Amino acid sequence: MTLAFERNGSLCVEGVSLADIAARFGTPCYVYSRAALTAAFLAYTDTLRAHGVIDRSMVCYAIKANSNLAVLNVFARLGAGFDIVSGGELARVLAAGGSPDKIVFSGVGKKPAEMAEALKVGIHCFNIESASELATLNEVAESLGCIARISLRVNPDVDAKTHPYISTGLKSNKFGVAYTEAHAIYRHAASLRNIKVVGIDCHIGSQLLDPAPAAEAVDKLLSLVDALATDGIVIEHIDVGGGMGITYRSDEAAPSAAEYLAPMLVKLARRTEKLIFEPGRSLVGNAGLLLTRVDVLKPGEVKNFAIVDAAMNDLMRPAMYEAWHEIVKVGNSPAGAGVESRPRTAGTLHGREAVLRENPALPPSIYEIVGPVCESGDWLGHDRSLALSEGDLLAILSTGAYGMAMASNYNTRPRAAEVMVDGNDVHLIRQREAVAQLFALESLLP
Ligand code: LLP
Repeated sequence: MTLAFERNGSLCVEGVSLADIAARFGTPCYVYSRAALTAAFLAYTDTLRAHGVIDRSMVCYAIKANSNLAVLNVFARLGAGFDIVSGGELARVLAAGGSPDKIVFSGVGKKPAEMAEALKVGIHCFNIESASELATLNEVAESLGCIARISLRVNPDVDAKTHPYISTGLKSNKFGVAYTEAHAIYRHAASLRNIKVVGIDCHIGSQLLDPAPAAEAVDKLLSLVDALATDGIVIEHIDVGGGMGITYRSDEAAPSAAEYLAPMLVKLARRTEKLIFEPGRSLVGNAGLLLTRVDVLKPGEVKNFAIVDAAMNDLMRPAMYEAWHEIVKVGNSPAGAGVESRPRTAGTLHGREAVLRENPALPPSIYEIVGPVCESGDWLGHDRSLALSEGDLLAILSTGAYGMAMASNYNTRPRAAEVMVDGNDVHLIRQREAVAQLFALESLLP
């Protein structure tokens, strides 16, 4: 699924051609669309409004998916809250203008210093994942003379039916407290002097294409909330986590926000608790692409390789999850040639047709699209039918989520530049790293 569309033989994001972006900022380069980010966020809030729950809902963007300050700032301006998992992410949200009282702090291993930072700025809630963490938070809050607001992340033991590495709601996963133990931990939490129980949360996995498991998890949370109420423990908010899947390949049907949220909202609309959502991927995944250049074509006896200047360090998902990202060719039309007639809607799928129309003379071959990193696992796409020449630009689609956020400096490769398109403008939102910066913190022995 792409946010790019064809204009005179060149792929564009909103009003800006990708060839121009590559010429100006170099490659590899992550390109995001402000319009697509905004549309994805509004799809959530429109759905919440349609179900009559908007006034008691908070959409807390899970920033692990893409934590660039400009991305966070786009969501902060739209009124989003944020889901964080570290002190580093807390600092980012604050630097990007996010409100502390709309922050929920998830994660299985929060450190006391991170808890203290979050308490000092007054976050909305700590999503607690173990009895041990609860005890530590109580101590930290006591030492600061304040009260920590908490939710328990309950593991509902629901099969999210997604990739095992990104499934989190099963008994066998490290996340949350067991459903059967939750009530006792809540009782204990309610007895602690520096803890205030305010919520319940869960997150069963990521890239969920079927809304049923999330709705099943909500049922389990609601029975627990009712059981707690009979015990005098009042749950003010229900946080259903993130997880909504996106379309990575055109033959894969991902639910819209309306379709994904409806089965759980039907249950939640009858209640009075406040609601929290923690979408990550679904707000940013299809609002970004990775622009890369073909450096070397290497025909082989068994396979043809196209060696591009992006690699596994820039985009880990193929190597890590065997994830599939659509890869399309970007035309190289000169800047400003021709006038665009297409409406600039975000999320329009035109990539492959654009590729084939753009260069009909060159027959497509089957390529392994790989990076220059010294690992056989350094691949970005297997068996792609593309008509390629050295120097061509490619766009690796649906990489706005868990792309740059998971990038590393492996092979001492500077991380990519990031830009955001906003209408006809393009803004550099993260400079390409310089090699000297990569070892600036290292020292020689005396
Ligand atoms: N809330 C919690 C507590 C989470 O652990 C996560 C993601 C989210 C929300 C956001 O989930 P989303 O809406 O993005 O599915 N690196 C993997 C995905 C890891 C997801 C981790 N937790 C990937 O590239 O597919």
